[in-house]
Amino acid sequence: MLWLVSVVIIVVLWKYFTQKQNDLARLPGPPRLPILGCALTFMGLTQEKMFKKVIDLQNQYGNRVVLSAFGRYSLQIYNVEDIEIVLSHSRNITKSRPYQFMEPWLGAGLLISTGHKWHHRRKILTPTFHFDILKSFLKVFEEQSRSMVEELRKLNKESTDFIDVIPFISDYMLYIICETAMGIKLDSDKSETKIEYKRAILDIGSMVMKRLANIYLHSKLLFNLHPMSRRFAKSLEKLHSFTDNVIMERKKAYDSGDVVYVVNADNGGSKRRLALLDLLLEAERKGEIDLEGIREEVNTFMFEGHDTTATALAFGLMLLADHEEVQERIFEECKSLYGDSDSGTSMSDLGEMKYLEAVIKEILRLYPSVPFIGREIVEEFMLDDIKVQKGAEVVVHIYDVQRNADLYPEPEAFKPERFLEADSRHPYAFVPFSAGPRNCIGQRFAKMEMKCVLSEIVRNFSLEPMKRGARPTLKSDIVLRCVHPIYVRFIPR
Ligand code: HEM
Repeated sequence: MLWLVSVVIIVVLWKYFTQKQNDLARLPGPPRLPILGCALTFMGLTQEKMFKKVIDLQNQYGNRVVLSAFGRYSLQIYNVEDIEIVLSHSRNITKSRPYQFMEPWLGAGLLISTGHKWHHRRKILTPTFHFDILKSFLKVFEEQSRSMVEELRKLNKESTDFIDVIPFISDYMLYIICETAMGIKLDSDKSETKIEYKRAILDIGSMVMKRLANIYLHSKLLFNLHPMSRRFAKSLEKLHSFTDNVIMERKKAYDSGDVVYVVNADNGGSKRRLALLDLLLEAERKGEIDLEGIREEVNTFMFEGHDTTATALAFGLMLLADHEEVQERIFEECKSLYGDSDSGTSMSDLGEMKYLEAVIKEILRLYPSVPFIGREIVEEFMLDDIKVQKGAEVVVHIYDVQRNADLYPEPEAFKPERFLEADSRHPYAFVPFSAGPRNCIGQRFAKMEMKCVLSEIVRNFSLEPMKRGARPTLKSDIVLRCVHPIYVRFIPR
């Protein structure tokens, strides 16, 4: 035991004394104690306080801020030039350590994996987001948007009260990802398991953030000894049992040849499989992936494919409710496309919704569903005269760069017009879907889905906020969340 303690002390001291050769040690940041660094800065903070602290870092220390603990450095970047260098790097594609806290849940699926495994999986999964496949999802987006409108009408008849939009939208986003990507219809599922699945995601998110804030919980050993690990295991069980059922149900249909196909008319009528899960099951048959791999991707896509869009839409409805003039412009745009008819939406209709496109960009600028992303540096690189060494972590602050007053005058104001003007902004000034090799694979899916939902809602309702001008208190989580519910009133047109 004594020798172990001695080795740890030597390693820590060695790291401490060699840090002087590390350029990152010269950069500003919260006060660093010997050895501990800034490990105590975030200790014990609530998710709300943690979000605020992270946002304050740039105001206090500038565009490059360094956090450190036990000889490890984490560089926080806020300016577009640095962000471009980091996100466009072809070899620094490894996610930073905090992503490992989600690994028991998501496995080494597309979001977390790296290297050869990530390349291989991205190659298998990319065709699932091909234009023809997305086109075939339109029907599902539309059906679910119409069900949403029906349910809102029903709720209105029962009471004229405000609706808590986050859980409402989140249900529908889960139905959509299950039907499009997994080939499973879930909308009639009122079961406890669906509710538990969503509750477990919130629980896991808050536990991941607690681990992040409390450095001693970074250690697997100490975490496993902590009472939180038992709560974590329980949530995991709920998450996995829900997704395992989805896989088993689709596998049964796939093995019996009972899967739905899309006919690709533009390609001589050849058939394409509908769901991402079918593609994975086919890859399993060819020996390209095993069942555990399928599980990793299903867990990844079920989460990424619904929670991100639900968050964006909930903030979006809040902003629309607060801006009547924006709702009216969307309504007019839809009217010019559809007139008074109730006809369905085509891909070209979606392409014509230029104003709504700008609205969606402005929603994602103010409330990017993924506010920060992190990389573990595996190949050193330069930021001007600063060498970022192998082993450092770099965190890209999407939320802050998109609220930078030099890039977006009146940054806090909701002004979709800024995205209608000729775009002279730096290409990395707007990165809600990240950019470069690890960009969001589902971004076109998400934009189509958001257009369908928002246009359908605005065609049918005028939205009103509970309190005009109110803005939510945000908190750190796996995706951007707010501390209190968001209430909106939907008044039939
Ligand atoms: C408004 C909606 C969405 C936003 C803002 C968003 C944002 C992002 C961001 C910022 C990343 C990079 C994460 C990182 O580097 O850590 C990402 C990755 C990813 N997203 Fe999305 N996303 C959205 C919707 C979706 C949807 C609908 C799906 C699936 C259908 C999806 C699946 C994924 C996956 C699998 C990755 C990992 C990709 C890779 O590393 O190869 N996302 N997303």
